[in-house]
Amino acid sequence: MSSYENYTQKSRNYDKTREPVGTEISVGCFAHAPVPLDQMVVLDAGCGTGNYSQAMLGYVGRIEAVDMNPGMLEVAAQKLAGARDEGRISFQSAQIDELPFEDEHFDGVMINQVLHHLPDDAPKGFPVHRRVFAEFARVLKPGGVLVVNTCSQEQLRHGYWHYSLIPEAADALRARYVPLDELAEILIDSGFAYRGRFAPVDAAIQGESYFDPRGPLTKEWRDGDSVWSLVAEDRLNRALSRIQNLDERGELEAYMARNDALRPQIGQATILFASRE
Ligand SMILES: C[S@@+](CC[C@H](N)C(=O)[O-])C[C@H]1O[C@@H](n2cnc3c(N)ncnc32)[C@H](O)[C@@H]1O
Repeated sequence: MSSYENYTQKSRNYDKTREPVGTEISVGCFAHAPVPLDQMVVLDAGCGTGNYSQAMLGYVGRIEAVDMNPGMLEVAAQKLAGARDEGRISFQSAQIDELPFEDEHFDGVMINQVLHHLPDDAPKGFPVHRRVFAEFARVLKPGGVLVVNTCSQEQLRHGYWHYSLIPEAADALRARYVPLDELAEILIDSGFAYRGRFAPVDAAIQGESYFDPRGPLTKEWRDGDSVWSLVAEDRLNRALSRIQNLDERGELEAYMARNDALRPQIGQATILFASRE
């Protein structure tokens, strides 16, 4: 289970607002693998409802998708039933730090917006992250490509307008993300050559719905960002009242714009590119 989010409950609403942001960057990274892109066998680690798999199927040969949550896997398997019937994708229930694949099985691995769900311990040097990346190094062929789609501390501070409504939860979420320089070091320690990082600045993880200033008022919208699972009930009520008050005063759009001012320059997600030594 994610260490704080109930994805069995959220799986039905997840796709209503989520977009596979950064796919084109990941495709560019995968193109550096020793095999041609359209022949690559790729692991989608923590596939969720399969949004990134769906987008990536247009480029790579075959995908093996794993997730530990049965609700998310069920949505993914239904959505991609056609590709599964054609043998282009398979789904398995698995933990990403204990993968059911033999050594050197994959040409590429992608992990999209999953790492912050790991139950980890910063003072001990993020041992769970280290286990996950050791597992990725094990299942990748030499030269195989790893793409890690995550968020920088700056993106979490300034890339999500609604986090200003729920500052305690935003702080708690940020503490779950390994700072990117440290993440790059963990990759190197795990047997990867670190090759750079890229941020898609022109896309929002919740797509067009991100720009709905009244979005947080509905549970469906909130289900698209796990930060809301870190909000205490009294804080949630306070945030919702604040939106309503701003709206009544005709100031809601301006509030959103003010708190969204930096996002177009920094984006919401960063893709780290590494290859197995
Ligand atoms: C925010 S969702 C991202 C889903 C998908 N990658 C996407 O970006 O649309 C996080 C997913 O990671 C899965 N997950 C979290 N920890 C995991 C673990 N240790 N092993 C396997 N899956 C995990 C959750 O079940 C959930 O489906």
